[in-house]
Amino acid sequence: MMRLACFFLLSLLALPLAAAPDGAELYAQNCAVCHGADGRGGVGVPLALPSFLPSVDDDYLTATIRNGRPGRVMPAFTQLRDDQVRAIIDYLRHWMPAGSTVVKLSREPVHGDAQRGKTLFAQRCAACHGAHGEGGHGTGVTFSRPRDLPIIAPALNNPGFLAAATDQMIKTTLMNGREGTPMVSFLQQGLSERDIDDVVSYVRSFAGTVQGWRPGNDDTPMLEMDSPYSLAETVEAVKRAAVGKNFRIIREQSLENGLYAPGEEGQETTIIYFCNFNFINQALALDPRVGLFMPCRITVVERAGQVKVMSINPKYLSRLFNNAELDKPCEEMHQVYLGIMEEATL
Ligand code: HEC
Ligand code: HEC
Repeated sequence: MMRLACFFLLSLLALPLAAAPDGAELYAQNCAVCHGADGRGGVGVPLALPSFLPSVDDDYLTATIRNGRPGRVMPAFTQLRDDQVRAIIDYLRHWMPAGSTVVKLSREPVHGDAQRGKTLFAQRCAACHGAHGEGGHGTGVTFSRPRDLPIIAPALNNPGFLAAATDQMIKTTLMNGREGTPMVSFLQQGLSERDIDDVVSYVRSFAGTVQGWRPGNDDTPMLEMDSPYSLAETVEAVKRAAVGKNFRIIREQSLENGLYAPGEEGQETTIIYFCNFNFINQALALDPRVGLFMPCRITVVERAGQVKVMSINPKYLSRLFNNAELDKPCEEMHQVYLGIMEEATL
């Protein structure tokens, strides 16, 4: 009898572990804020484009999610389990046009003439991707300026991009372009396949010049502090500190309640959402993109026994938004976030 009861209990416990992670929900929690609930982009580039999804394989998407684009706004999602990343990718794939399939690209390196590619890059790419492939000013889909360029060109000298993209993926992007974006087909623009190989080799050569991303300064997309308290205590302390600064707590969301896959135990995340309508209205009037980061949120994570408090870095955002009018409210928000995080971890 006892045995049977134990068996029942164990199978109950095992149930949620066996349940597949929900890609739609994970996308909504982790990606929608930047890429849009419908995948049409925002602070992030569009992901649902028919010209994008079939042109990249799962390895590219996995590496992009895992590594992020250090120094750009795209975060590295190291805390997600493999099956969760898988579920997000399956969810992205549901936007693929009916009947389309994912290209199968070889892993063969492209052997072009990087020196020649450099000249072509300066002529054909630098205007959008920057002289050294550092990417356009700002990120994602622009709502304000410049109006002639609806999507900001991603950084190509980025360690996250270079680690994710194979030579063949870059080549395909140049050959076909991304219909529906400013990234056109350079075959149609009159470059030969050999020219394109040269440009690919030049883009690959950025790998030797990029520097790693140093956390802990204003240039980082995230603010992060260690907390000496437990997760629950830290969550309460963050809420007290936010209320003390005239914010209203909207809600608190715990991810991954309960059960974890083997090896992932002891990881827990709570997000605290809060807002101040005066501030929101003021900032929204300056730039509608601010709405993507509202309400304000601070994330408390416990990983391997260490509790950390994290938020997006508003100062970093203000640079990426490339809207000088936002500098002041972003600076204010930076102080607010730091103040709350410092007070909560004191
Ligand atoms: C804080 C904003 C932000 C969040 C959150 C975010 N991204 Fe991004 N993402 C970006 C930006 C911005 C870029 C473009 C990088 C650049 O401008 O250099 C990008 C690029 C990408 C790319 C490369 C697109 C391409 O054209 O090659 C993929 C894929 C991607 N993100 C997927 C995701 C997924 C999946 C999630 C959730 C797990 C996510 N992103 C969360 C901002 C974000
Ligand atoms: C008119 C502006 C413009 C020009 C010129 C341009 N690009 Fe792009 N490029 C973009 C935009 C915008 C995107 C993002 C498209 C999207 O949202 O999927 C992009 C995407 C890319 C990507 C995919 C990056 C990623 O994160 O997925 C590569 C690689 C690339 N461009 C290389 C080049 C190279 C090399 C050249 C020159 C031969 C070039 N581009 C010229 C605007 C441009």
